[in-house]
Amino acid sequence: MKIAVLSRAPQAYSTQRLRAAALQRGHNVKVLNTLRFAIDLTADEPDLHYRGRQLSDYDAILPRIGNSITYFGTAVVRQFEQMDVYTPNTANGISSARDKLRANQILSRHNIAMPPTAFVRNRADVRPAIERVGGAPVVIKLLEGTQGIGVILAPQVKVAEAIIETLHSTKQNVLIQKFISESRGRDIRALVVGDRVVAAMRRSAAGDEFRSNVHRGGSVEAIELDPVYERAAVRSAQIMGLRVAGVDMLEGEDGPLVMEVNSSPGLQGIETATKLDVAGAIIDYIAGQVAFPEIDVRQRLTVSTGYGVAELMVHGAVDLVGKTLGEAGLWERDITVLTLHRGVSVIPNPRKHVVLEADDRLFCFGKLDEMRSMVPERRRRRAKVRRLPRQPLSE
Ligand SMILES: Nc1ncnc2c1ncn2[C@@H]1O[C@H](COP(=O)(O)OP(=O)(O)O)[C@@H](O)[C@H]1O
Ligand SMILES: [Mg+2]
Repeated sequence: MKIAVLSRAPQAYSTQRLRAAALQRGHNVKVLNTLRFAIDLTADEPDLHYRGRQLSDYDAILPRIGNSITYFGTAVVRQFEQMDVYTPNTANGISSARDKLRANQILSRHNIAMPPTAFVRNRADVRPAIERVGGAPVVIKLLEGTQGIGVILAPQVKVAEAIIETLHSTKQNVLIQKFISESRGRDIRALVVGDRVVAAMRRSAAGDEFRSNVHRGGSVEAIELDPVYERAAVRSAQIMGLRVAGVDMLEGEDGPLVMEVNSSPGLQGIETATKLDVAGAIIDYIAGQVAFPEIDVRQRLTVSTGYGVAELMVHGAVDLVGKTLGEAGLWERDITVLTLHRGVSVIPNPRKHVVLEADDRLFCFGKLDEMRSMVPERRRRRAKVRRLPRQPLSE
């Protein structure tokens, strides 16, 4: 295959290793500077220029987008996606993972355990938020920090309030997070490629530092990953839409707490610690996938008027519990079931004899009008009726 590594650091360890692994396997590989692309939307078809000249055909890209160029970098990746060039990490995945709040919001609906976290803006809401996540000591995080920069441990509520107020006054958004003391100075980095963890290590902070980042002097050791941690890592990467990811987990009392999912994980620490060929695993995975470029389902399937994708609850407006999928009469109504979600498992292309259970969810494609009648009325979280104030409140 012909593959481009998008990177601004051709000499960096990770870039060099990926390039070498591709060459060793007989692939044609180029390292291209992400910032030298020009996105061309003038022609009939999406196109890209590189260093002023039209880009030749590639089978795949491997984006290594640094934090400082997220916007432009993801725009370039998105353009490759529009051109049907395979990328293990989509533009959407990269931008969602980069923002710690957005990542937490997305992961939180999929039963992924995370440290209790709050996000507030008004001064009056800071103290209650700190109390809600468990009080001091408390961790404060900049939304887009990396390498441990912008992660602070505040010993007291007053100190935490002062730090948050200062950051807010300089227009910085911060997360308030419970300090997971049982994992102090330690965390797990799992490298996910496709649907498996190819390498894992424990990072330990230096001295009395609580951050275990290698850039903060942390040391690394290879570990045999517990299957529970492995599942949490793989699912987190899948949910974020990343096929190559470094998933960071704290070791909580009750198991893994996912902290973040990195879309451009460094390879030096993990390859040194584990002596495994992670770069090779990444290249092999991409080579096996080039025939199937990732497709943005909603973007593609909603172009035909009146048709779209929707999630139907089995226990919804129309009750299908106990019926088989065939008896549910979906196909007759021009609805195709793409996947069946049951708890944390997913059954792709479910057969008609599958018996439906109460909490099943069906991810379907079909006529929106037909599906609308099957979606229950929005469930209210609290069905309390509140009286309107007599006087309209000013905003
Ligand atoms: N809630 C927490 N409890 C305990 N330690 C934490 C917590 N959050 C972060 N840390 C420590 O700080 C490090 C950096 O935090 P992280 O959120 O991964 O930021 P960065 O993106 O800068 O790496 C982690 O690797 C971990 O060692
Ligand atoms: Mg981290």
